Amino acid sequence: MTLLEDHDLGTPAQPGPATVGLEIDGLAVSVPEGTSIMHAAGLVGIDVPKLCATDSLAAFGSCRLCLVEIDGRRGTPASCTMPVEAGMKVSTQTPRLEKLRRGVMELYISDHPLDCLTCAANGDCELQDMAGAVGLREVRYGYAGENHLDASKDESNPYFAFDASKCIVCSRCVRACEEIQGTFALTIAGRGFDSRVAPGNSNFLGSECVSCGACVQACPTATLEEKTVITLGVPRRSVLTTCAYCGVGCSFKAELRGDEVVRMVPYKQGGANEGHSCVKGRFAWGYATHKERVLTPMVREAITDPWRVVGWEEAISYTADRLKSIQARHGIAAIGGITSSRCTNEEVFVVQKMVRAAFGNNNVDTCARVCHSPTGFGLKQTFGTSAGTQDFRSVDESDVIVVIGANPTEAHPVFASRMKRRLRQGAKLIVIDPRRTEIVRSPHVEADYHLQLQPGTNVAVVNALAHVVVTEDLVDHRFVAERCEPEDFDTWAAFISAQEYSPEATEAVTGVPAADLRAAARLYATGGNAAIYYGLGVTEHSQGSTMVMGLANLSMATGNIGRRGVGVNPLRGQNNVQGSCDMGSFPHELPGYRHVSDDAVRHLFEETWGRPLDKEPGLRIPNMFDGAVEGTFKALYVQGEDIAQSDPNTHHVQAALAHLELCIVQDLFLNETAKFAHVFLPGTSFLEKDGTFTNAERRINRVRPVMAPRNGKQEWQVVCELATAMGYPMHYRASSEIMDEIASTTPTFAGVSFAKLDALGSVQWPCNEAAPLGTPIMHIDKFVRGKGRFVETPFIPTDERTNRRYPLILTTGRILSQYNVGAQTRRTENVAWHPEDLLEIHPYDADERGVAEGGWVTLASRSGETELRAHITNRVPQGVVYTTFHHPVTGANVVTTEYSDWATNCPEYKVTAVQVRARVHVGGSAGPPSVLPDRVDADVPALR
Ligand code: SF4
Ligand code: SF4
Ligand code: SF4
Ligand code: FES
Repeated sequence: MTLLEDHDLGTPAQPGPATVGLEIDGLAVSVPEGTSIMHAAGLVGIDVPKLCATDSLAAFGSCRLCLVEIDGRRGTPASCTMPVEAGMKVSTQTPRLEKLRRGVMELYISDHPLDCLTCAANGDCELQDMAGAVGLREVRYGYAGENHLDASKDESNPYFAFDASKCIVCSRCVRACEEIQGTFALTIAGRGFDSRVAPGNSNFLGSECVSCGACVQACPTATLEEKTVITLGVPRRSVLTTCAYCGVGCSFKAELRGDEVVRMVPYKQGGANEGHSCVKGRFAWGYATHKERVLTPMVREAITDPWRVVGWEEAISYTADRLKSIQARHGIAAIGGITSSRCTNEEVFVVQKMVRAAFGNNNVDTCARVCHSPTGFGLKQTFGTSAGTQDFRSVDESDVIVVIGANPTEAHPVFASRMKRRLRQGAKLIVIDPRRTEIVRSPHVEADYHLQLQPGTNVAVVNALAHVVVTEDLVDHRFVAERCEPEDFDTWAAFISAQEYSPEATEAVTGVPAADLRAAARLYATGGNAAIYYGLGVTEHSQGSTMVMGLANLSMATGNIGRRGVGVNPLRGQNNVQGSCDMGSFPHELPGYRHVSDDAVRHLFEETWGRPLDKEPGLRIPNMFDGAVEGTFKALYVQGEDIAQSDPNTHHVQAALAHLELCIVQDLFLNETAKFAHVFLPGTSFLEKDGTFTNAERRINRVRPVMAPRNGKQEWQVVCELATAMGYPMHYRASSEIMDEIASTTPTFAGVSFAKLDALGSVQWPCNEAAPLGTPIMHIDKFVRGKGRFVETPFIPTDERTNRRYPLILTTGRILSQYNVGAQTRRTENVAWHPEDLLEIHPYDADERGVAEGGWVTLASRSGETELRAHITNRVPQGVVYTTFHHPVTGANVVTTEYSDWATNCPEYKVTAVQVRARVHVGGSAGPPSVLPDRVDADVPALR
């Protein structure tokens, strides 16, 4: 990281060529039109004093510290708001300016506590820096006048404090909340001397604030400060790394004091986040040192035995011996492994290598099976590769944005902020979702169309959209003729033109008014650059793969693919779900999505690995479970996944795990799956890992160790030792050597190395000889498969139907403050916002069942039942209920069923027929009294 990268140039860079030449303090500089004088000065190393300006926010011009003189002009304009002009001669340091600036600083300091030496931000405070920069030595006005020094503190937020006595009312926090985060939680209340920063309600925790930290980042004083900085002191060094929560893949500087992490600061040059963050990556990292971390290996003969703590050597040899014994008795195919989308590419690569080369079979699968496997299948069929088509920045050039089956403000918050900024600039929005998610209506953002479909009818909706495009001749014929298989298009166009796919014919099934659907289709086809962003609401269905292909068809038919601003973009759930798929985690694919039956590819790996490989696909996760129950599958290695909680139909999963002769869990905590384990191998948190993650835009980011592995070993080392103990030697001196092996065997990664990532920051695959700097946008001149392929997508309703016994549809999702099964976030202060899973239910359905707000209910399906509290809201339509699955105590997957996607077995989490009953206590009252936080009662978008 160079100093310039961290340098704050005061105002944002302007796009375009550097055509405007001027002189600043005698130095010549050329910059793009619209650049501020302050920014131009910064580029030639001149720091104009500033307080209200920062280069992540539009210029505001309130502090008057940045005054300059311009030859031939009267006055002293603010350099942050004054744009450059050709031929200008600017002076930033003159006796007159110095006097003016000292005067401004005097006023600020006279109303500021004089506690610099004991202030938490001492040495990291712009006010302090500027006082020094302008040479302020004394304050003539004294400190006895009217001031704000007794203003109260707001410490309600678990992660940061607001000390109003230190506020200089520069508005940077307010503007950060608006411009960067898009939440509009803060205002400047009052006027003149009484001006003050105010969160909407009484305090930060009670306000709309989603705790993203943008205001803390923007604050030039210690007014908004991380509590860890207050406790531990200002950090002294930093390590650049990548967030381990969602598929946005934000870059952070882990800032440390000694060996202790003080704070995580979003990195301005991060390709995915450009300096922004959400509450999880910014603040919820404390789980890494949580007291419940298991740091030593443990074994036991039977799951009813107590755990026995052992050394690494014994754990490895014990595990290898039992695996070998099982294979000797039950055959080579009786064991397998599951890779983790939380782990690095390198860690995943060695696991699939161990399974294929040391276990000798292809019984390897990944948690992507239960989330985005239909994306891999559907996009490969139509475009030729299993990944999203754009970088995140592409949305800045979209005119129409379609969000379908995704809740980005909760699940992909940093991308959602970027998307909302584009929407505030005027892009149109189509939301297709059974729930009224926050993006449908939030401050300054409102969907043009919200197609509130019935869960399970995605394919009917996408077909109806395509029907309108074809039958109203909104097709981009030139694109189709040049870029797509003509016969496939003709066949598809005839198929989709059938009356049965019209909006009018499908309205009764989908619940979407035909007129709205037609209007949305016209907008998508004719509104300019149209981009599709989708999530698990698309994939986790019995027709998940069909739906992905339907979206691909729609983009090709309208020419919305292959340039900036358009595309088909899966919003990946876990941090490295893209990478775990890329690394060959599927039982039918070697790294780079190449089928195991492809002789040439298999021979390449056989040569590299020195072992014959099986050409038959192995078992998928559901097949492993079925095999375990049937007695043919005996041992499972589980890397960093809590399948007992995250996979559907918990009873079946638990039965499968209970049947295993050997279950090996490699994880941070003793999770639900570990209850069935015979071997526990402690894993490493992201702060200890050394490797790479690949985010939803195919961006490969470095994950650098911030601390030594607390368990004593990197996870890939443990896997290599296990494979070696089984008789297949696997040795690497460093994780960079694993990446070198990935690059040498996988064409899309051929140009990737740790050295390149250190030099460039990140690259998006394909990165190879043809694209040495990576590929932000895919399919520009041609599709990866050559011509784009239209695929017929008949709508086949799910077998999961409501009936008199189970009359409601349950759909599931995520929430901002929690992550997946909550193993990490539940061990942080994030529980302040979401202490339990709640069941959202429409007022009508609640009333019919006597369900009270906050009252306990029983949620039952034909698979099982669980209990949780109800939240009555019209976010969900009548007939639909919704919950999250972040808390094991709820075990929401007890009720989900065995139905899955026809092509990939991705579970149908999003449609389960259920009944909801108010839980009646023996005494007759409906459950214990609610202890829900007040905010849950309010039907407002908030951090929940
Ligand atoms: S932390 Fe809260 S108040 Fe601050 S920018 Fe984020 S949402 Fe706005
Ligand atoms: S809290 Fe910080 S950023 Fe906000 S107005 Fe006060 S000093 Fe400026
Ligand atoms: S948006 Fe995702 S990657 Fe970024 S900080 Fe939040 S959880 Fe981490
Ligand atoms: S920095 Fe220019 S007016 Fe504040």
